[in-house]
Amino acid sequence: MRNTILSHRSIRKYKPDSIPEKILEDILRSGIYASTTGNMQLYSMVVSKEVEIRKLLWEVHFKQDMVLQAPVHITFCADFNRFNLWCRLRNAEPGYGNFLSFFTAAIDALLVSQNISLAAEYHGLGICYLGTATYNADRLIEILNLPRQVVPVAAIVMGYSDENPGTTDRLPLEAVLHKEKYRNFTDELIDEIYRLRESSEQTKQLLELNKKETLAQIFTDNRYTKKDNEFFSTKYLEVIRKQGFLEPENLT
Ligand SMILES: Cc1cc2nc3c(=O)[nH]c(=O)nc-3n(C[C@H](O)[C@H](O)[C@H](O)COP(=O)(O)O)c2cc1C
Repeated sequence: MRNTILSHRSIRKYKPDSIPEKILEDILRSGIYASTTGNMQLYSMVVSKEVEIRKLLWEVHFKQDMVLQAPVHITFCADFNRFNLWCRLRNAEPGYGNFLSFFTAAIDALLVSQNISLAAEYHGLGICYLGTATYNADRLIEILNLPRQVVPVAAIVMGYSDENPGTTDRLPLEAVLHKEKYRNFTDELIDEIYRLRESSEQTKQLLELNKKETLAQIFTDNRYTKKDNEFFSTKYLEVIRKQGFLEPENLT
């Protein structure tokens, strides 16, 4: 398992070969062994294989080609719908129309998505997450027929790789590890932590291509801009509200 974890790299080009049913089922079953809040399993996963549906998903995911290529697309959702139905059938009144419940269910869904990703890689398959699942969650709700109290939080594509990229660099462990208490960062430490990444050949190429002075500017000015982040935040909050997680009576 350690080898599987350390050799992870996102795959963005796929062969058309389908995933044998037995293998896919084994992968999906591995997902449900993830820890979840109170063992409530507050998530659902929608597996899409049909080409017509994947074409619609491709549009939603900013037309990233891997969505059309990979034979399997999975949308992971924070889901209180099933749990609420069970409660009401058993004479129990659910109180989950609030932000904490959304976040709790989102945590469950994300733990499952990562279990599934690792299980897929263990079986020799490639995966790639699609951040666009939160950007265009409203469209996913329509396409996948998601009821109230169900909100997409992540999506992955899965299939047999048609490329062989190397693993991507990581910041040194010290960048993310704090012993006993959080120690904040001096300028010198920030320089040290980002030094290798900033001096790589890949960064040099990116700076030229994007005509930027620093790698950080590529993130703030091109990839994850304030304008986009604010636009998609408003949109996603509206989805969370519409799906019944921010009921006014629960905010008082
Ligand atoms: C939540 C999330 C959303 C992502 N969205 C996209 C995406 O839309 N398109 C893409 O090509 N890669 C996407 N990725 C993949 C990341 O770019 C990738 O994990 C990161 O660059 C590290 O590379 P690695 O996975 O190869 O180690 C996403 C990853 C995560 C965790």
